[in-house]
Amino acid sequence: MSLKVPFLDLKSVNLRFRDEILRAIEGVVDSGWYILGDSVARFEEEYAKFSGVRFCVGVGSGLDALILSLRALDIARGDEVIVPANTYIATWLAVSAVGAVPIPVEPDPETYNIDPERIPEKITRKTKAILAVNLYGQPADLATLKQIADEHKLFLVEDNAQAHGALHKGKPTGSWGIVNGTSFYPGKNLGALGDAGAVTTDNQEIAERIRILRNYGSPKKYVHIEQGINSRLDEMQAAILLVKLKYLEQDNRKRQEIAKIYLENLNGVGDLILPVTKPENTHVYHQFVIRTKFRDALRDFLAEQGIGTLIHYPIPPHLQKAYKSLGYTKGDFPITEEIADTILSLPIYPTLEHWQIEMVVESIKAFFKRL
Ligand SMILES: Cc1ncc(COP(=O)(O)O)c(C=O)c1O
Repeated sequence: MSLKVPFLDLKSVNLRFRDEILRAIEGVVDSGWYILGDSVARFEEEYAKFSGVRFCVGVGSGLDALILSLRALDIARGDEVIVPANTYIATWLAVSAVGAVPIPVEPDPETYNIDPERIPEKITRKTKAILAVNLYGQPADLATLKQIADEHKLFLVEDNAQAHGALHKGKPTGSWGIVNGTSFYPGKNLGALGDAGAVTTDNQEIAERIRILRNYGSPKKYVHIEQGINSRLDEMQAAILLVKLKYLEQDNRKRQEIAKIYLENLNGVGDLILPVTKPENTHVYHQFVIRTKFRDALRDFLAEQGIGTLIHYPIPPHLQKAYKSLGYTKGDFPITEEIADTILSLPIYPTLEHWQIEMVVESIKAFFKRL
């Protein structure tokens, strides 16, 4: 049985652009040029403009965007990188992939983003960078992070996979770090129809280095100046992203309208903690994350009503088997663990209909009335 309110209905999201997407794909098929062609070049130009930076380099995924960003800064074995304890594991994996060690820092419990005040005590002689995540669509405290990074001569790098189009102090996410990685995984605010990612930067040297690294370390066919990888933004995905980029701001506005309805109607219901947007931020609501100590029961109740929800994320990276070697145990990052135990993401996407939003609100109210 299909859900009345799916957590995310990507089919309806993309069908709105079906004809334009098919025409874009047709254009690539007919061009006869399938790797690093005109669509990739045009998308890179448009996305750089959108992000308020001079350069964008399209790559194969968000994880690769972060790995290549760190490689371009020469971060490697023996180095440490400050990361949020509360993030998707890909942020940490990028650091490990270059041989460096992720040093987790607890979040601000109000925004769920890395708490700048807790960073200085984690800085050592080995620290090279702060890798900040704009989680759920809200910018981290990027101005303060930049100040801390500058004071300690560290690089600031943004993981902007979840906040395309958000602003901090009026300046776009993806433009604060010396280099920034993003993902266009299908479920993101700007989502491809497959894997895709990009790096954004104002630094020409870094942009050129990443162009070379993504293409076998090759600045020129059959000339290899370093050991690169193959992680090029796919031409077909770039053509699709060019179509969808035109609608991103409109779609983000739709997400904000849905968030407003949730915020107005769920305020004061049960023990719910609702998302808080800092005055210096705009929030593009990649996720609408609520908190309650009755999380699991609420999730089951909503599922019975035909409403899909998800948990972003149920097990923090420090408690994953993949990071057993770092030796962390339960209790090491209590704020992050508390968040993981109490959060629930509600449906929020541009094709969510009004009756569906109402149904989510009414079902949550009904759950807390029954308690
Ligand atoms: C915060 C964050 N960083 C990195 C990634 C990795 O992106 P990708 O799935 O495109 O590799 C994602 C999404 O999956 C993410 O949410």
